Amino acid sequence: MNKQEILDAFQFRHACKEFDSSKIIPIEDFEFILETAQLSPSSFGFEPWHFIIVQEKKLRELLKENAWGAPKKLDTASHFVIGLTMKPTLTKWNSDYIQNFMKNVQQLPDEMIKGKGKFYEEFQKSDYDLTDDRKLFDWASKQCYIALANMMTSAALIGIDSCPIEGLQQKEIDEILKKDFGVDNNKYGVSYMVAFGYRVAGPKPKTRRNLNEIVTWK
Ligand SMILES: Cc1cc2nc3c(=O)[nH]c(=O)nc-3n(C[C@H](O)[C@H](O)[C@H](O)COP(=O)(O)O)c2cc1C
Repeated sequence: MNKQEILDAFQFRHACKEFDSSKIIPIEDFEFILETAQLSPSSFGFEPWHFIIVQEKKLRELLKENAWGAPKKLDTASHFVIGLTMKPTLTKWNSDYIQNFMKNVQQLPDEMIKGKGKFYEEFQKSDYDLTDDRKLFDWASKQCYIALANMMTSAALIGIDSCPIEGLQQKEIDEILKKDFGVDNNKYGVSYMVAFGYRVAGPKPKTRRNLNEIVTWK
């Protein structure tokens, strides 16, 4: 791909308000989008995310009342994703999740687990002051947005539209996720939703500040 084709994809991506509900994303294309989420970077490589793909109409309906930014997308998107972020029970430096992750996913030898664990403890306790649960959740949530961006960009690169959605009531959606989706609220909380599909209408022209207003060279 050349640079212009990549920039074209960035222009193509817009917050799509309504999708053509008769068009379904081929599964191999959607799996490609998910793979770009999976390959996203995360702090210490601990992948503090989970993605629920909501395809059942009944479940999509349940989300509507507490997601004011989503109804039209819930009705028309080919694929609808809820981006979950891990809670401190999983992401805190001394959690079982972190220990198991270093051992089983990263396959680090015991000595390195000790060293990296200590480093991660320091990072949370002093470098970034992630000592209260809200701060720790928000820090992990920031990483989940990297996966969000990658999914939207990779979708655009293969001609698929998307819309990121934060128009939701976090507490209420977490309750629904617990009650109707079987999500353990002690382990995960919602960060965002994102809809994928094919546009019914063209986007409005993009408005952005000039590059020299957002960039400083020193
Ligand atoms: C984190 C985030 C949350 C957003 N939430 C919503 C939303 O709830 N509903 C919606 O229609 N658009 C939502 N948007 C889309 C923005 O309004 C849109 O990206 C912005 O106006 C720029 O337009 P563009 O994406 O079409 O270039 C959200 C965007 C981001 C990045």
